[in-house]
Amino acid sequence: MRKKIVAGNWKMNMTVAEAGALVSGLKLELSNFREVEVVVCPPFTALASVSQALQGTNMDLGAQNMHWEKSGAYTGEVSPEMLRELFCHYVILGHSERRTYFGETDEIVNRKTKAALAWGLHPIVCVGETLAQREAGEVEQVITTQVRGSLAGLSAREILDTVIAYEPVWAIGTGKTATSAQAQDVHALIRKVLAGMFDEAVAQGVRIQYGGSVKPANAKELFSMPDIDGGLIGGAALKADSFVAIVKAAV
Ligand code: PGA
Repeated sequence: MRKKIVAGNWKMNMTVAEAGALVSGLKLELSNFREVEVVVCPPFTALASVSQALQGTNMDLGAQNMHWEKSGAYTGEVSPEMLRELFCHYVILGHSERRTYFGETDEIVNRKTKAALAWGLHPIVCVGETLAQREAGEVEQVITTQVRGSLAGLSAREILDTVIAYEPVWAIGTGKTATSAQAQDVHALIRKVLAGMFDEAVAQGVRIQYGGSVKPANAKELFSMPDIDGGLIGGAALKADSFVAIVKAAV
């Protein structure tokens, strides 16, 4: 049985003060919540304070990006060692905003994924097609290429420590959610690709989140699909009540 995992991707939102208020709200409802794995991913500047606030709760900390090197002359970057020091368990890698605005390729995402695993961090590796690619009938090819490229060279042990997030680019921040059937189709495809890279048993063990305009109103239906193991939540993760409702929809 795959345990469902719901992660809040705060993106470039939340000052330290705002993050503190949001986490206080989440703690009221989720401190001892065990049915679903809950992860919050603040911006780098709020990681230390949120890490402290989460101590003793059942929620995990994640980052939104990282460099693959331990340290060095990479101005503006943050390393896996730095994330470990702050008790990060997860790190989002290859989000479509990183791919689109910061030129991240499957090769870069693959380097980061391997580095995260080597440092004992669980990567949340994002894949997803654009609207143009969907309309051109390229979903299968695009997703297969991204999964194979981003996860190349991982061992079975490593892929089981990895979470995949399917986020159709046209659904991110647009209010347009994939239907549960559309999402399920792609999740099943990802599992099929994993079965080809590893084997069926390994593919069945990997958790695959859906992301893209998940809200309290649509979460339950999405999370009830057989291959959808939770969600990566953007906008709706910025308010305690909506994020809590989404987490509870995963039970
Ligand atoms: P959204 O973002 O929920 O605001 O669509 C999801 C994401 O980009 O992770």
